[in-house]
Amino acid sequence: MKRLEECIVKYGKALNKDVLKVDAFLNHQIDPDLMMELGKDFVEHFKDTPITKVVTIETSGIAPSVMLGYLLHVPVVFMKKSKSKIVDDNVYTANIHSFTKGIDYEITCSKDYLAKDDQVLFIDDFMANGEACIGGIKIIEQSGASVAGIGIVIEKAFQPGRKKVEALGYPVYSQARIASLDKDMITFVEE
Ligand code: G4P
Ligand code: NA
Ligand code: NA
Repeated sequence: MKRLEECIVKYGKALNKDVLKVDAFLNHQIDPDLMMELGKDFVEHFKDTPITKVVTIETSGIAPSVMLGYLLHVPVVFMKKSKSKIVDDNVYTANIHSFTKGIDYEITCSKDYLAKDDQVLFIDDFMANGEACIGGIKIIEQSGASVAGIGIVIEKAFQPGRKKVEALGYPVYSQARIASLDKDMITFVEE
């Protein structure tokens, strides 16, 4: 998506060859206008897919997801992160290992907000190694709901996330695909 790529080039900062900082519009300060454009782009991409719910993971997936849910008139659910094991019969849980942060954490979702007949569009802000996305998929599968689609704002295409998620049988749509990162040099995958 052109406008997103322009924002990444203008405001993004490659910390090194692996990490892109986008605090200026997505991870700290939020550009609502851009978030709405991201929502519209997801609507356009998934226009032939029936969707009953948008699901994401806190924190940074929430902003684009709310815009998308608003446009589709469906509820938005965010899975919660916690460091310790949750003992609660009324939640689905999945373990996630973050390679970037070197930690394990758990994500949870109340059983009240995912149902067997839900067609879920799963959204996240970044895809790196795909661990968070796979955790999200596991929870949706536990609930008996269907994963109708996966939408990512920024994919680091040089990391294995897409491959791992597609190996599970779910195609991934990303609004910006980064081919490589370096100080003062961000390149995108040519589509
Ligand atoms: P993975 O789920 O794809 O395997 O990702 P990983 O564990 O490597 O990433 C952990 C966190 O860092 C996730 O957010 C992910 O969105 C984010 N992340 C990964 N690579 C980048 C990057 O290059 N730039 C930025 N800005 N974020 C990246 P989180 O910590 O759960 O954050 P939040 O949603 O609470 O903001
Ligand atoms: Na993040
Ligand atoms: Na995230």
